[in-house]
Amino acid sequence: MNTNLLFLLLILIIAGCQSSSTKVSETQNVNNSLYLQLGGQETVNIAIISMVKRLHNDERLSELFNDVNDIELIQNFNDFICQLTGGGCEYQGATMEDIHTGLSISKAEFDRFVSMFIFSMQDANIAFPAQNKLLDKLAGLRDEVIEL
Ligand code: HEM
Repeated sequence: MNTNLLFLLLILIIAGCQSSSTKVSETQNVNNSLYLQLGGQETVNIAIISMVKRLHNDERLSELFNDVNDIELIQNFNDFICQLTGGGCEYQGATMEDIHTGLSISKAEFDRFVSMFIFSMQDANIAFPAQNKLLDKLAGLRDEVIEL
């Protein structure tokens, strides 16, 4: 193998190492926060506003939200999702259990709520992998919300 060829090989190896380590650190940064993968504050807020509208228009769930202060609900829901997905916010509301106890939420209502939230995330153009990660987290809260 002549010197030029050796030199070229060395350059290729170094370039290869650099590009793979750049890819790794970029991936780590993006994966640091699901909140950012969802699109951050503006996008999450769009999804939540859409969700609250859907809840008010829903024939089965709207009744539960008749007397709720929408501004507070939107704010608290934003803070909650931000905290849940590592966005650096602090949710100051009550626990999921405390909020939902007494509302007699059934499994079917929970599933309906989650399907509506999928449509709301689509309204906000949230990428599917990020949607799925958030849905996974919401599914983990099922037992704290359901009573029936
Ligand atoms: C994983 C699913 C859910 C999450 C993460 C969630 C989260 C929240 C949050 C953050 C609030 C605002 C609490 C506050 O004001 O501090 C809230 C309120 C509320 N949620 Fe949920 N919720 C979920 C499922 C449901 C379901 C399935 C229903 C009913 C079908 C429901 C009905 C309500 C109602 C009626 C309120 C307003 C309570 C009030 O202000 O008196 N939630 N929820």
